[in-house]
Amino acid sequence: MSKDVEKPWGGRFTEPTDAFVEAFTASVTFDKRLYAHDIRGSVAHAQMLAHVGVLTMAESESIIRGLEAIKEEIEQGQFDWSIALEDVHMNIEARLIERIGDVGKKLHTGRSRNDQVATDIRLYLRDELAEILAELKRLQTALVDLADQEADTIMPGFTHLQTAQPVTFGHHLLAWFEMLKRDSGRLNDCAKRMNVLPLGAAALAGTSYPIDRKYTAMLLGFDEVAENSLDAVSDRDFAIEFVAAAALTMTHLSRFSEELILWASAQFSFIELGDSFCTGSSIMPQKKNPDVPELVRGKTGRINGNLISLLTLMKGQPLAYNKDNQEDKEPLFDTVDNLKASLRVYADMIPVVGARKNNMYEAARSGFSTATDLADYLVRQGVPVRDAHEVVGKAVRLGVDSNRDLADMSLEELQGFSDRIEEDVFEVLTLEGSVAARNHLGGTAPKQVRSAVKRARKWLSSA
Ligand code: ARG
Repeated sequence: MSKDVEKPWGGRFTEPTDAFVEAFTASVTFDKRLYAHDIRGSVAHAQMLAHVGVLTMAESESIIRGLEAIKEEIEQGQFDWSIALEDVHMNIEARLIERIGDVGKKLHTGRSRNDQVATDIRLYLRDELAEILAELKRLQTALVDLADQEADTIMPGFTHLQTAQPVTFGHHLLAWFEMLKRDSGRLNDCAKRMNVLPLGAAALAGTSYPIDRKYTAMLLGFDEVAENSLDAVSDRDFAIEFVAAAALTMTHLSRFSEELILWASAQFSFIELGDSFCTGSSIMPQKKNPDVPELVRGKTGRINGNLISLLTLMKGQPLAYNKDNQEDKEPLFDTVDNLKASLRVYADMIPVVGARKNNMYEAARSGFSTATDLADYLVRQGVPVRDAHEVVGKAVRLGVDSNRDLADMSLEELQGFSDRIEEDVFEVLTLEGSVAARNHLGGTAPKQVRSAVKRARKWLSSA
């Protein structure tokens, strides 16, 4: 119950808050994780207030020392969080007053929880984003290392999950690298709009104190100051942008997971997932389940859900701050935690993915994956592309009926389909010949994979 805790806003109230309403409206159970950023913002605010002469230097210093001691208490697990004090902001402020007395009551000069919380989330997300980008880069590095190692490894490439044309495993791995490169671009882009200071907007209209917002921005490492006080306290675009970028990153990891799961199955048997990333079954002794990619694929759903939560949260809110905004935190925290964990586990797992090269090779041999190469060969001999397609279709038909690949047929048999076919046809019918022929920027040839790896490493060293 609230009766024995004095609320910072208690002045105009005559009756205590209903106990259930108190718990219902409180956010401290989840927003206490913002404590370090809340304190960081408050320290900068106190410094700015002294800088403009609203606080004396001694007052500001006493506040800052108090805040630092509170941070220590929280980190030592000695801080008593109170539901009656509603949120992280009022818990810390109340404790400050308890520790340093009346001077502590001056910290909130020229500020409101509305601009305070908007500042805290930006500071928090900025730090988390740096960690997320570091994990993303670690995963990209692992992919490039594996691609380098598997530049010559041949596997079937698929469309419609049917064997299409041979590709190199290195090339396939670099497709994932490209997706993650775009994700990194999106996250970096949203970081720019995030790095803007709301503090100074106060409740909604600004403040009558002679504050220096640029000074606070400088202290906190913000690039800019939010231009409009109403927008500053109510804007959550940066959170939505981040979760949107996270949803797309998770979508990529989910597609990635789907392939790893398929490839690790007995039916494909293209890869071996490290034992430490799988689990067994309590009843079927033969099982080695790809739990990690399955969980990552599953988590994509909740991140998509978080995006819809935030979009719907903002839809229809009039300016400026509304209590609705308190609901921004859980979807945001959940997204940060799960995206970071998914990237981390993937970055750890990729280096222990083993390619079963023989199985990949045999699979590429069995699906007429060089049929296009035969058609291209005929076109080079002057056969119109439509006729070439027809000729190769007939050869494939024979292959299906006699259970053989095109490369297994004799020259005479192939010549039965077209008299333009010569001995050199076998150079294009081999898997090696097929991939080596796709030797242009963005192609699957081992040579191209090696130069793509070089470009990727260069990108990584500057990212
Ligand atoms: N706990 C609140 C939130 O998360 C802090 C801001 C409260 N502001 C207010 N006017 N009630 O949004």
